[in-house]
Amino acid sequence: MKKIGILTSGGDCQGLNSAIRGVGKALYEQFGDNVEIYGLVDGYHGLIEGEYKLMSPRDFSGILTIGGTILGTSRQPFKRMRDVDENNVDKVEKMKKTYKKLGLDCIVVLGGNGTHKTANLLSEEGLNVIGLPKTIDNDIWGTDMTFGFYSALNVATDVIDRIHTTATSHGRVFIVEVMGHKVGWLTLYAGIAGGADVILLPEIPYNIDSVIGELERRTKSGKKFSIIAVAEGAVSQEEAGLKKKEFKARRAAMTQPSISYRIADEIKEKYEHEIRVCVPGHFQRGGSPCPYDRVFTTRLGTSAAQLIAREKYGYMVALQKNEIVPVPLSEVAGKLKVVTPDCNEVITAKQMGICFGD
Ligand code: F6P
Repeated sequence: MKKIGILTSGGDCQGLNSAIRGVGKALYEQFGDNVEIYGLVDGYHGLIEGEYKLMSPRDFSGILTIGGTILGTSRQPFKRMRDVDENNVDKVEKMKKTYKKLGLDCIVVLGGNGTHKTANLLSEEGLNVIGLPKTIDNDIWGTDMTFGFYSALNVATDVIDRIHTTATSHGRVFIVEVMGHKVGWLTLYAGIAGGADVILLPEIPYNIDSVIGELERRTKSGKKFSIIAVAEGAVSQEEAGLKKKEFKARRAAMTQPSISYRIADEIKEKYEHEIRVCVPGHFQRGGSPCPYDRVFTTRLGTSAAQLIAREKYGYMVALQKNEIVPVPLSEVAGKLKVVTPDCNEVITAKQMGICFGD
């Protein structure tokens, strides 16, 4: 009998349930009645606290199109994993205990960067682990794509499309703030797909005068509106030169609710125009996965089941050149896949005349 644990960890996104389904159905196909799948509740929390439920094939049906995660999720920071409780036991030891108590052969973790750091730690501690790359940010090293990204991109692009109609009707400048944490992939893609005039990313620090110069240039050429796609992690050139501590202090002192509002204020100081900010926030992570993510998560899930059948553990299943390949967790952990200023998409955007504020 194979005993497999499965958990979803970190921020939710579209495609988690279709990935769970992919893993589950492929395991039942592979092992028939000779597999037990245990759903760990709320991510690593379930493994730490021993909260789980034995799943049945029925649990994996009817969830392909459903957003969120049927297992629940939570953020369990990697840096807290060695914190001890009142009995002097740390979270890693507790997770090992649950794993042993259930007699698991492997645990499948669906998550982003933090999740994969912990997955690697558990693997180093002797547990059999397989990871699936999940995040709307598409910032996991070792995979060309993460699931959730294209679904969130659809939402973010739709927001920019809809904002376009009001921007053109009223002749306004609109700033749309896109998620992505400290990387700009989602903003870059949504900005290009939505026809933004300016795209501001964490990886390409902006100079406000360059942004204003672009807005003025558009005004002079007869354009009454402009759309600025801003990554939630965007930074100015001045901020990029600060030490980490100074940067944190600067941001803590910021009076605006987010970077987009600050940029709006900075623009207003020198450029007279009606300007509005739109922050779609968690809308971007909600709802049904797009067809790409349904197919992608099904491919990832079935590949994870194949690795389990071959007893090949300690890997994240990744997309490379349209093939699903195993990448060692030790290579993935602790690295971030960021936008590079000379990447194809940035060059394409620049060739279209999109301003990056640099
Ligand atoms: O990592 C996914 C993500 O949506 C980021 O884009 C964003 O910065 C973060 O999660 C928001 O986290 P939370 O849902 O905890 O507010």
